[in-house]
Amino acid sequence: MKGIILAGGAGSRLYPLTSVVTKQLQPIYDKPMIYYPLSLLMMCGIREVLIITTEYDQPFFKNLLSDGSRFGIKIQFETQPEPKGIAQAYLIGEKFLQGEDSLMVLGDNLFHGNFASFRAAVKQQLAKEDGLKAQVFAYPVTDPERYGVVEFDKKTKEVKSIVEKPEKPKSNYAIPGLYLMDGSAPERARVQKPSPRGELEITDLIQSYLDEGSLRVEVISRGMAWLDTGTPQSLLEANAYIATLEQRQGFKVACLEEIGLRMNFVDTNHFRKVISETPNSPYRDYLNIILKEYEEE
Ligand code: DAU
Repeated sequence: MKGIILAGGAGSRLYPLTSVVTKQLQPIYDKPMIYYPLSLLMMCGIREVLIITTEYDQPFFKNLLSDGSRFGIKIQFETQPEPKGIAQAYLIGEKFLQGEDSLMVLGDNLFHGNFASFRAAVKQQLAKEDGLKAQVFAYPVTDPERYGVVEFDKKTKEVKSIVEKPEKPKSNYAIPGLYLMDGSAPERARVQKPSPRGELEITDLIQSYLDEGSLRVEVISRGMAWLDTGTPQSLLEANAYIATLEQRQGFKVACLEEIGLRMNFVDTNHFRKVISETPNSPYRDYLNIILKEYEEE
């Protein structure tokens, strides 16, 4: 299973913030936004990740994350010349994927809670049981018209369709930007036609699995937080959410070095070396606390 983070796009809803720093590098409290989707992939056990960015922004991502060895993972980068749709990520990522299954997360989607259901989904996908080839998730929201929306059959409760930003949503279940797909995703994206707005829509790609009966849609429990970070207001709320949690618990959300250690991607010697290379900062103090606690456990 490989991971993809789609982190391109124009970020126009955050202009003028995004004329200085691209959306996925904007701060969410004490870390750049991309730390959060990357932490999700790592916590699902994924160690090979492709990050897709605009050409202009790529050096900033590389500066921040380098090759990922700091966290015990391998990061590669690809460029999306123009934002031609989320499904295009599978064409850009085809060489990286080499026919393997993947978990793709949008670089501006922030999840927090118990990731057990995501981990189980990854396991299930790899097991290839019941002709299952792809899985997406459904999450209740108050503003479904802003998202890809699931339509359920009223009687059987089976999924009937997946529609991008419907004017009249058939349910209040949005599809978050987290997509588990088998190795056929690039082939499917290749035969897709651009939508009227000129994009390869992710919802059409998902629909291709639904049409052949190989899609599973799992409703995410209400205990999980799925936060949007695409507008100034939602960015502010995501900041406040993470700040509140971290202040209250004393643990950081999405500290990639810590996750690398806890997932056994790195050992304590590597972690110690990473700390010695980290600028003297509250972040480094936190890594030292984690190391001490980890060694005492
Ligand atoms: O957040 C979940 C939603 O994300 C889904 O429910 C929708 O089905 C899906 O289309 C998407 O909707 P958005 O309105 O959020 O899409 P947006 O165009 O804003 O793109 C989402 C992220 O993906 C954004 O951070 C930019 C990046 N992106 C997008 C496109 C279209 C790219 O990097 N390249 C692209 O070509």
